[in-house]
Amino acid sequence: MRIAITGANSATGRAILRRLGSEPWRSLEVVAAVRSERAARELPPLPPERSRIARISFDEREGLCSVLRGASVLVHLPGILLERRDSSYERAHVHATEVAVTAACEAGIRKLVLVSAEGADPASRNRYFKTKGQAEQVVRSSGLAHVILRAPLLIGPFTQEAQILRRAVAKRRAWLVGSGVTLQTPLDVDDLAEATLRAASDSARVAGKAIDLGGPERVTTRELFRRAGRIAGREVRIRSVSPALLRRLLALRTRLFGPGPSPELLEVLLSDSQADPEALAREFEVRSTPLDAALVKSLQPEEAP
Ligand SMILES: NC(=O)c1ccc[n+]([C@@H]2O[C@H](COP(=O)([O-])OP(=O)(O)OC[C@H]3O[C@@H](n4cnc5c(N)ncnc54)[C@H](OP(=O)(O)O)[C@@H]3O)[C@@H](O)[C@H]2O)c1
Repeated sequence: MRIAITGANSATGRAILRRLGSEPWRSLEVVAAVRSERAARELPPLPPERSRIARISFDEREGLCSVLRGASVLVHLPGILLERRDSSYERAHVHATEVAVTAACEAGIRKLVLVSAEGADPASRNRYFKTKGQAEQVVRSSGLAHVILRAPLLIGPFTQEAQILRRAVAKRRAWLVGSGVTLQTPLDVDDLAEATLRAASDSARVAGKAIDLGGPERVTTRELFRRAGRIAGREVRIRSVSPALLRRLLALRTRLFGPGPSPELLEVLLSDSQADPEALAREFEVRSTPLDAALVKSLQPEEAP
């Protein structure tokens, strides 16, 4: 089987590519699609006889189509939490998925695995959740066989949260909004990678489903930082920021300077996770990595590939 991965340099993409050396993925062929030389340099070493890197704009349907030809499954990973001038939620979530779906249909891809986000909902007033939901709709109405995996907060190598945890542990301090009482079900990115590969290769069981994947424990953000500190042997002091004050500041910042940290982003960060800790085992027979073990991986310094 040959799979193509768009956004292959994402934390999830790299975790998928790291599995190529382990059973049962040793014979899988992979096309790793990235947008730049910088992104290509972020990829782990790949087995040359059964992999290839494609540098391509995800906006160009024709180019993407020729990259996808010969693959049977597309794993589509692009997504952002923080908008920038050159990358909006609409562009990164909806437009990128529309182009990928059209290119996949033309290239004869048989199945698409979309990694989406917990809370995705096309009817949401929050543009992050709304555009994630719209991307899911694009996939559902594509006519392609598909599986949608909704991720909660991801931890583990190369995730944004791992960087934040390492910084907090190094400084022995974390600033958390509203005392850090938001509930999280942090998922090890390596577990998501395994589920993604199983979704790509198993055609029947999860076909057409949208599955909310949770990590093994539900903890508050505060507890997550405390646990990281305990594992590193350094107490992390928690400082609180008022959500109301921060919301006003972010609204002002957004009005003055445009894309960047926004009240919508804050709303995403403060959403309690309801993700299902059993779904990994039930749908994919993947045993969740215990939270402390995932935190150990998250705290390790990231090495260049
Ligand atoms: N990390 C989490 O906690 C979390 C939680 C819920 C859902 N998710 C979703 O899960 C998926 C994988 O997450 P991740 O953390 O592994 O991703 P990540 O490491 O943040 O990587 C994001 C990827 O999206 C690409 N990208 C950014 N803007 C784009 C645009 N405008 N058009 C096309 N591609 C764009 C990036 O490419 P460049 O490097 O070239 O910019 C990169 O390959 C994403 O869809 C994410 O939204 C993540």
